[in-house]
Amino acid sequence: MVRERQPRQRFYLLKSFAQKHSVLGIQTAPRYSVFVMARTKSFRFVDLFCGIGGFRIALQSLGGTCVFSSDWDKYARQTYSANFGVEPAGDIREVEARDIPTFDVLTAGFPCQPFSISGVSKKNSLGRPHGFADLTQGTLFFEIVRILKAHKPRAFILENVRNLRSHDGGRTFDVILRSLTQDLGYDVHFKIFDAKHLVPQHRERIFIVGFREPRQFAWPSFDRQGDEPKLRDILEESVDPKYTLSNKLWDYLQRYAAKHRAAGNGFGFGLGNLDGSSRTLSARYYKDGSEILVPQGENNPRRLTPRECARLMGYPETYKIVVSDTQAYKQFGNSVVVPLVKAVANATLKALGTPEVFRPRQLSLIEGGRAAVATIPERVANYG
Ligand SMILES: C[S@@+](CC[C@H](N)C(=O)[O-])C[C@H]1O[C@@H](n2cnc3c(N)ncnc32)[C@H](O)[C@@H]1O
Repeated sequence: MVRERQPRQRFYLLKSFAQKHSVLGIQTAPRYSVFVMARTKSFRFVDLFCGIGGFRIALQSLGGTCVFSSDWDKYARQTYSANFGVEPAGDIREVEARDIPTFDVLTAGFPCQPFSISGVSKKNSLGRPHGFADLTQGTLFFEIVRILKAHKPRAFILENVRNLRSHDGGRTFDVILRSLTQDLGYDVHFKIFDAKHLVPQHRERIFIVGFREPRQFAWPSFDRQGDEPKLRDILEESVDPKYTLSNKLWDYLQRYAAKHRAAGNGFGFGLGNLDGSSRTLSARYYKDGSEILVPQGENNPRRLTPRECARLMGYPETYKIVVSDTQAYKQFGNSVVVPLVKAVANATLKALGTPEVFRPRQLSLIEGGRAAVATIPERVANYG
């Protein structure tokens, strides 16, 4: 069994119970026995294609316990383990579904290059297949289907690039929806969100939420017209000059942009508007940082620091960045916007409903060294 460190259980020593002879219908020992109650957290989830744990931060903050995670990238695993104290399992294709512990919610931001606009055009230019025809990465969605089929969790939350919806004339998305609804029987909802309402970044992503039993579900809404976060709010005060573009690179980017402008298309660098949101941070930001440049007055612009990228993705300040700048840029560019995932997860948990979400808890009634164990349902916290 591939098992993550289990949640730390809290023990309550309730001496007053020692005098009672019956607790919740269970016979206690006479007089001096000790009543120990172990409380588990409210719901269990798995973090597939976990990257650096954006889903994990969001769901843990809602009271969830992660029982399994997987990512095959060596550097993402380093970051994950530095921050969560666990080493994710590797290639998901090699994990047997029965080796994953039981869980309530499956989360996955599955690989998006086979479906993203830049990924598709790069694969096209190299004459490589994309979408489901990309047998290495395009079919990983079916690993999710395999695990859902085996475990039938109460809900799932999937995230991907906006283009997943329209890839291959909508056929890719049809296959995905059909697998989740007709083959697996889930009640499925999807919506495209722009993260700019929560972080100063224009980042459109599709979320797909499914319920084993049909639920009243409402997507979160963000009504912050005119009051969106600003790029200047996530900038560090003092930044190493190594992040400032060299004259050579800055000249090159300007000439490249001018050439494309003349040809009538809009490629080019993205000099950030400090009072607005940035362009989308991508995994290729490490190359030249051209999609999000910070203006520096008379000086050449600079790229974002890894810490600023973490902020742009809504990661907490305590999040540890333990890899090279190149890896950190890739990791944050591939990740999810944490507060957006949290909002979607909160809506999902709300729809699951508090009265029906029970987690067994254990009562140990220690009678002179002999433990009698019983299980009672525990009502979980209100997610609202
Ligand atoms: C879009 S990223 C997900 C990022 C993640 N949601 C986060 O918050 O950082 C997709 C991840 O899938 C991982 N991946 C790709 N193929 C995999 C496989 N066969 N098994 C496990 N992980 C894989 C990649 O290494 C990458 O980290």
